Amino acid sequence: MTQVKTAVFPVAGLGTRFLPATKAMPKVLLPIVDRPLIQYAVDEAAAAGIENLVFVTGRGNSALEDYFDVSFELEATLRAKGQSDIAASLEGLRRGPGQIAYVRQIDPLGLGHAVWCARNTIGDAPFAVLLADELILSDVPDLTTMLEVHAEHGGNVVLVDEVARSRTGSYGIITPGETHNGVIEVTDIVEKPNPEHAPSNLAVIGRYILDPSIMAMLETTETGAGGEIELTDALLASIGTVPFHAVRTTGDRFDCGSKTGFVDATIHAALGRSDMRSHVQGTIDRLANHSTDS
Ligand code: G1P
Repeated sequence: MTQVKTAVFPVAGLGTRFLPATKAMPKVLLPIVDRPLIQYAVDEAAAAGIENLVFVTGRGNSALEDYFDVSFELEATLRAKGQSDIAASLEGLRRGPGQIAYVRQIDPLGLGHAVWCARNTIGDAPFAVLLADELILSDVPDLTTMLEVHAEHGGNVVLVDEVARSRTGSYGIITPGETHNGVIEVTDIVEKPNPEHAPSNLAVIGRYILDPSIMAMLETTETGAGGEIELTDALLASIGTVPFHAVRTTGDRFDCGSKTGFVDATIHAALGRSDMRSHVQGTIDRLANHSTDS
């Protein structure tokens, strides 16, 4: 089985829900405390052994390329001010030569189209896809488990989480088949079904290991649910041609595509940091008492 060494990060989204914050900066650079969303996703991929990163960008994403580049003036200034430790921490974020590629998605035609735009960079090897607005904090990355499942079964593997029935219209929803040792066979998948039509409440949460044959499926996928080329529809078309499995997340998951999820993630991350915990907890307690009093 070919090892998965490359991850695709579709980052061309307009970030409409976060306007005006995202008017002049990509959504994935929004910080959870002091780390941009994309940094969490890149760290997660690296922790799972992924070496090569492919960002599928759109117009207005140039700040992302700068983020992963040397900031010569900033680093020199920090060193001159005796803050070499901070400069070194920035250096640590960089990747080796040739380990980052940028592919431009000229037309915003959806997630499936974004992945397809990376086809010439990916070639004929399985690859991961990470949606950085789904923030997953865990000790062992779910991606590692997904790679193990892929090594055993091949084909396509997705990460799922239970969502409230009322929320199925925001996600790709799977129909689970037999489950062995936590590995769920996927027999069907549908993009953003209404709660009354949803086959389950197991939602795909932005982590995929994909067989390279998905690119041919995407090539012929018609526009779907939201007038976009959906990755979900190509996964559906692949059922029966390659194995398809799902695993449940074991992490703390935050849908940072929504404002409430973003705020939840920020609070969670702040409470998890020794340099901030007591201050933030104090603020929460004070605000809670305040709202009880009023
Ligand atoms: C995308 C996918 C959807 C998936 C979701 C996870 O939707 O199309 O299947 O469940 O990401 O966040 P989007 O959130 O881009 O509308």
